[in-house]
Amino acid sequence: MTTAQTPRVAIYPGSFDPLTNGHVDIIERGSRIFDSIVVAILANAEKAPLFSEQERIDMIQDVFKGRANVKVETFNGLLVDYAQQKRASVLVRGLRAVSDFEYEFQMALMNRHLAPGIETVFMMPAEQYTYISSRLIKEVFTLNGTISGLVPPVVEERLRAKKKTSL
Ligand code: PNS
Repeated sequence: MTTAQTPRVAIYPGSFDPLTNGHVDIIERGSRIFDSIVVAILANAEKAPLFSEQERIDMIQDVFKGRANVKVETFNGLLVDYAQQKRASVLVRGLRAVSDFEYEFQMALMNRHLAPGIETVFMMPAEQYTYISSRLIKEVFTLNGTISGLVPPVVEERLRAKKKTSL
């Protein structure tokens, strides 16, 4: 808690299609620093997701079950509007490599322009996760490469199930 006893809520926004061990690492780190962290899945994104919103919620909830300060929700519209609704003062984003920087820098500054009271905090995942992205996980899995150790077991199971049903 902060000195005024106001819980410090952080939002960790993203597509999470699907959750990777890099995301898990950032959520773990955030949950140790903030009173609570809301994993906020962007709903109705333009790109067609592999997993439905509900499937993504289920997988993240499964990984963090029993962790009272990790919540999972979906959001629509502007991220800063959603953060204000949740009375969150912090947006958490993971930074894996220099290549992430430009996009993240633009988003952080645009969000600050829109809502100066909300701060973006960047966190680096453990080095073994710095090359992982949801996009690469989907590509490698589709092409029969191994993704063990790169995503939580529940995500691997769901990917397998999806492959079976789409055959
Ligand atoms: O996992 P992603 O795809 O990198 O996450 C991007 C996300 C969801 C954080 C971003 O697209 C977003 O915040 N979208 C909500 C709409 C919004 O607020 N746009 C202006 C951000 S500068």
